[in-house]
Amino acid sequence: MTLATYSFELPTRIEFGVGVIEKAGSEAKALGASKVMIVADKGVIGAGLVKPVEESLNAAQIPFVVFDQIVPNPRDVHCEAGAKLAKAEGVDVLVAVGGGSSIDTAKAIGTLLTHGGIVQDWCGFQLLERPITPLIAIPTTAGTGSEVTPFSVITDTKEHVKLNIFDPKAAARVALIDPSVLLNLPSHIMASTGVDAMTHAVEAYTCNVANPHTDAYALYAIDLINKNLRKAVSAPDIESCTGMMLGSTIAGIAFGYADVAAVHCMAEALGGKYDTPHGVANALFLPLVTEFNIPADIKKHMNVAVALGVKPEGKVAEAVAMEGVEVLKKLCADVGIPKMKDIPEIDPADFPALAEAAEKNVSTPSNPRDIGAKEYLYLFKKAYEEEEK
Ligand SMILES: [Fe+2]
Repeated sequence: MTLATYSFELPTRIEFGVGVIEKAGSEAKALGASKVMIVADKGVIGAGLVKPVEESLNAAQIPFVVFDQIVPNPRDVHCEAGAKLAKAEGVDVLVAVGGGSSIDTAKAIGTLLTHGGIVQDWCGFQLLERPITPLIAIPTTAGTGSEVTPFSVITDTKEHVKLNIFDPKAAARVALIDPSVLLNLPSHIMASTGVDAMTHAVEAYTCNVANPHTDAYALYAIDLINKNLRKAVSAPDIESCTGMMLGSTIAGIAFGYADVAAVHCMAEALGGKYDTPHGVANALFLPLVTEFNIPADIKKHMNVAVALGVKPEGKVAEAVAMEGVEVLKKLCADVGIPKMKDIPEIDPADFPALAEAAEKNVSTPSNPRDIGAKEYLYLFKKAYEEEEK
């Protein structure tokens, strides 16, 4: 086996299991908190998921303030508002409770608190000068992996593009990963976030910056998500929720320390333009882009298919890989992901601009097959046309 040198380090300590959400207070205390800001969206607060965190902080006698200006595809302006509030309140530890939007917003707030300026100043690869404000991340969806990833994806509200603070210094210090929080998640959110997690795993494994450590995480995540997502959507129980929470966190480690690729480049272009939910946007392109990428690495795409349960015996590698694409397509359909044509704001006239936005995405060079605006335009059109059949 020949191999380029690589390094692999996880800056986030993981506490996994039913009930770990109640450790928020003791973990904040261990981080020396004098005042905490809970970063959570109104839906998560309304669902009662912030309550155990508040009770735990009360028990540890740590005062807190709540910042709830969180939107899907989080925006620069909200990060700046959050940082302003945190500064005014003298906050020294952040606790994010929610999906990727809340956790990514908290990472950006922590960046602004420790570095000043605006979000755009710190977007790019490893630009941070010091660790951000200590962050405890508590995921309430099984998708984003943001609790373990070293980056924060924020929408630039002026340019309508996604920005990325990409730096291990922006990672959460502690992740409290409690599968029981998924039991009451609305099924359409479980579906879209679960497909996001699957996309992380597939892209991490097949992208051209994967390494043996991320490969191991990615293949296990594909297996876990494939085996648990349907049940977690249709009739969630603690077993399927545990499988999904493990799958999304493990996929988060995989893509956080490898990368995503063209599916995310297209999904982020779409999300930046129309605010399409991130998981839905990924699902629109995952099977098609995976098929497009097969020739770049047939063996790896065959391994993806095998991890998805395809039996390889007696078949050529390409056929196995193509069966994997069909499994992905069926998974997206089975969990009720909408079609492109069901999203009324998507206008094919925007595809050339979306293709250019996708090309500019920092993850485009990580795609296993060479891809640029021309290929992206072809894939946007093909994804739209295939659905019209
Ligand atoms: Fe994602």
